[in-house]
Amino acid sequence: MKLLVLGGTGWLGREIAARAVGDGHHVTCVARGSGVPGGTASFRADRDDDAALLPLAAERWDAVIDVAREPGHVRRAVRDLAPVAGRYLFVSTASVYAPQASPGADESAERVPPLEADTMSGPEEYGPAKVACEDAVLTGFGPERSCIIRPGLIAGPGDPTGRTDYWPWRFAHPARPGEILVPDAPELPAAVIDVRDLAGWIVGCVGRRTSGIFNAAGPSAPFPDHLESAREAAASDAAPVAAPEEWLLARGVGEWAGPRSMPLWFADHSMYGSRTPSTERARAAGLSFRPLIETLRDSLRWLEAQGDGGHSGAGLTDADERELLALLAGQADR
Ligand SMILES: NC(=O)c1ccc[n+]([C@@H]2O[C@H](COP(=O)([O-])OP(=O)(O)OC[C@H]3O[C@@H](n4cnc5c(N)ncnc54)[C@H](OP(=O)(O)O)[C@@H]3O)[C@@H](O)[C@H]2O)c1
Repeated sequence: MKLLVLGGTGWLGREIAARAVGDGHHVTCVARGSGVPGGTASFRADRDDDAALLPLAAERWDAVIDVAREPGHVRRAVRDLAPVAGRYLFVSTASVYAPQASPGADESAERVPPLEADTMSGPEEYGPAKVACEDAVLTGFGPERSCIIRPGLIAGPGDPTGRTDYWPWRFAHPARPGEILVPDAPELPAAVIDVRDLAGWIVGCVGRRTSGIFNAAGPSAPFPDHLESAREAAASDAAPVAAPEEWLLARGVGEWAGPRSMPLWFADHSMYGSRTPSTERARAAGLSFRPLIETLRDSLRWLEAQGDGGHSGAGLTDADERELLALLAGQADR
């Protein structure tokens, strides 16, 4: 097939483009940068420019795969490419769902309202922006020529946010011997999908001309089980030391991602359902998952191969980890 990947220089987009080439497709990647995978053609364009994709509309494409976040990027791509492309696969997100969704909800669950603007004004508009992108694709290509994938948290080698490799890395590098600070959240659901499983399935969907809307979250496990897989992946004998959620929040420890955070944790229990959507439809369409420990082990190897010896982007620094563990131990002793 002749495929246009809108993206291809980032993480998932790059994995998709590389996988598509490996499966024998002819791939052109569209991005501002030029770091596209070997075997793909690069078309450099800035999608903020209204006419950026017009030269590509002079050719025919079997399918477009798009990882964009900005509604304007998708609206213009749909406008320009609907006449010349057979299908459009859009990589959306589970963040399109209203936060209080019930556990196991399927793809018909309520979404947040779409963003009307072409450009997000901040990260809090990510969900509404992706809803607007989905709507543009479904309107422009019609449901029969559209495929909307809503991934949950993506993990695996190369995570640019550092949030999914923090736990195996922390177990491999305890800041205080034998102890790892974790949130006391026994019911917290943790679900990650390996970037390689997701990319392979996405390319397969395009090849099979799959239409529809699909949740693509990884299998859900209680957070303590996720941590145990991280410990095993790191071959560590360190033990988790659980800190109460309110205690962490009161000390300025953030949720989910970013610096001074407990990655993958969120304190609002009413949001647990929104992180565990049904993936029955995607599994029926061929999505499968490698074991979590393989994802975490490969992520740790990738991180350690980067050679700087540290972890950045998410979690606690060694100094913060030591300080908080000491504080917690001091309070327990009193
Ligand atoms: N990470 C997660 O856990 C998670 C979960 C759910 C869904 N998702 C979705 O998964 C996808 C992740 O894809 P990714 O890792 O490839 O994303 P990414 O790293 O953010 O890459 C975005 C791509 O778009 C290109 N791009 C950005 N602005 C552009 C512009 N103005 N003009 C042209 N190209 C532009 C970038 O290339 P240049 O910068 O070179 O232009 C890059 O190739 C996203 O759709 C995200 O919403 C992620």
